[in-house]
Amino acid sequence: MPFTLIQFRRATSTQAWARDWARLGAREGLVVQALEQTAGRGRLQRSWHSPYNGGLYLSVLLRPTIPLAQASRLTMLVSLAAIEACQVVAGVTPVPKWPNDLLLQGRKLAGVLTELENQAERLSYAIIGLGLNANTDFRKTPLAETAISLQQATGHSVKLPVLRDAYLDALARRYQRFLSGESPVPAWKAQLEPLGRRVRVVQPGQALVEGTAIDVNADGALLVQDQVGITHTIWAGDIQTINNQQSTINDHPTD
Ligand code: BTN
Repeated sequence: MPFTLIQFRRATSTQAWARDWARLGAREGLVVQALEQTAGRGRLQRSWHSPYNGGLYLSVLLRPTIPLAQASRLTMLVSLAAIEACQVVAGVTPVPKWPNDLLLQGRKLAGVLTELENQAERLSYAIIGLGLNANTDFRKTPLAETAISLQQATGHSVKLPVLRDAYLDALARRYQRFLSGESPVPAWKAQLEPLGRRVRVVQPGQALVEGTAIDVNADGALLVQDQVGITHTIWAGDIQTINNQQSTINDHPTD
């Protein structure tokens, strides 16, 4: 799939630009990148800290003809492609954390934001945003305990065009295989946090669920088995690991 890259020095949010162009009929493969975002956004109405040259902030428009229920696989593809790019460019291997994060040394390295448009049960398009901390130093900031960048982990700054191209190469390959019928679920769940751990699930407007994260289903939902043996299917929310395990709540707070 050929990519068409539009790069801003500064933008509000690459998600917003990509969505506007998608609504106007832009073709699949549109990539919107910004070197700085003034209104970068994350899941659950959070903001995404996006200082100039601090990270990869980009959104990709995809239009696969798939059922809406499979759209979470696109988030997985992006996570796997981002992991590959980190391996190639920085020699580190982050792990995916349900539902949309990448962790390095237990801290949040990257987040994926997937926004969908559908017609009945079919996907019309997906805008998949990746925010990957590359050169930001979080150590003396309020995010020191929860966020990390490639530069912090390796001691070397990262050239963003190199990281972006490695990511887009990996994504193009994985997307092609996905269109040919390969599911990204096995590769994504092979290292997935918090599988096997005791967790507390915080879902907006719903009761807490505590139990063991036993699996993810084919559509990417997390299966949590509670003390009485009931399995809860979790579609969205935040996960804390419990029982002396480090909490991995690490989304960026709203500025
Ligand atoms: C999250 O962890 O909550 C997801 C963060 C996604 C951030 C990226 S940066 C590029 C794109 N544009 C945005 O405004 N958000 C996504």
